[in-house]
Amino acid sequence: MANLKDKVAFITGAAAGLGKGIAEVYAKYGAKMMLVDLSEDVEDVADELEDAYGVEVITYVGNVADKDEMIEAAQKTAEKFGEINIACLNAGICRLAPFEEMSDEMRDLHIDVNIKGTWNGCQAVIPYMLKQGGGAIVIASSVTGDLVADPGEAGYAMSKAALVGLTKCLAVEYAQRNIRVNCSQLGYARTPMVEKMALESAPEDPESVIAGIAGNVPMGRLATPEEVGELFAFLGSEESSYITGAQFVIDGAATLPETPGMGTN
Ligand SMILES: NC(=O)c1ccc[n+]([C@@H]2O[C@H](COP(=O)([O-])OP(=O)(O)OC[C@H]3O[C@@H](n4cnc5c(N)ncnc54)[C@H](O)[C@@H]3O)[C@@H](O)[C@H]2O)c1
Repeated sequence: MANLKDKVAFITGAAAGLGKGIAEVYAKYGAKMMLVDLSEDVEDVADELEDAYGVEVITYVGNVADKDEMIEAAQKTAEKFGEINIACLNAGICRLAPFEEMSDEMRDLHIDVNIKGTWNGCQAVIPYMLKQGGGAIVIASSVTGDLVADPGEAGYAMSKAALVGLTKCLAVEYAQRNIRVNCSQLGYARTPMVEKMALESAPEDPESVIAGIAGNVPMGRLATPEEVGELFAFLGSEESSYITGAQFVIDGAATLPETPGMGTN
């Protein structure tokens, strides 16, 4: 169990999906939080968590792709809580299109939100972490790009693989200054993003896509946002104090099977 009591966490993309699940687990373990999202729904999430867990939560409605906004969000976090111990840089988007039809705008959206958004988050929080003598950053990469890919995911796969490189470089660059940087590589969790991808893949029967995902996972199901939140909590806590620059596959063994039909099962 991760101990986050009185830690200050900066969590992006917290209005829905995984970010909301991460925030809930952080609240359960006693963290104070700044929740950032494009959507004003993040304010309802903050109210729910304050009521349910008695933790202090503030919010910032803004775009991770906007560097000035991320700097302002980090500044407000430090003004309110005095420091920033953990950053969960989770906000991200995924748009599907055949590669030859993928517009430059769609490519750039992945670069702006997924790559620059995470970059901006790191540059916004690291000055506070340096000042206070350390911190932990957890980046939402994916199995997509670095390990596997499906057709139509070129923009997304490229952007998520880039985050593995960012994780490794920052881990080395800040190791002696006590800032740890790790990334998650999730297979699938059922979130608004995955429901939208299922709808784009099979508009008549999106549930068949979700069932197909589950059928390809040896554990037979998708992850829950809370299960992903537990990984983020461990990587943000002192319990993972010697872990940095690492990539954590969390996929119910989805990327492991070698040959369909082979073996004893
Ligand atoms: N769900 C999965 O199965 C899965 C798998 C691997 C990786 N991931 C990654 O996990 C992260 C979260 O995914 P999700 O499934 O919860 O997505 P989601 O679309 O369900 O939720 C994303 C949240 O981020 C917010 N957001 C989007 N763009 C933003 C921006 N520019 N600035 C601020 N907030 C923004 C949205 O408003 C939303 O609240 C993403 O980075 C995604 O790539 C998800």
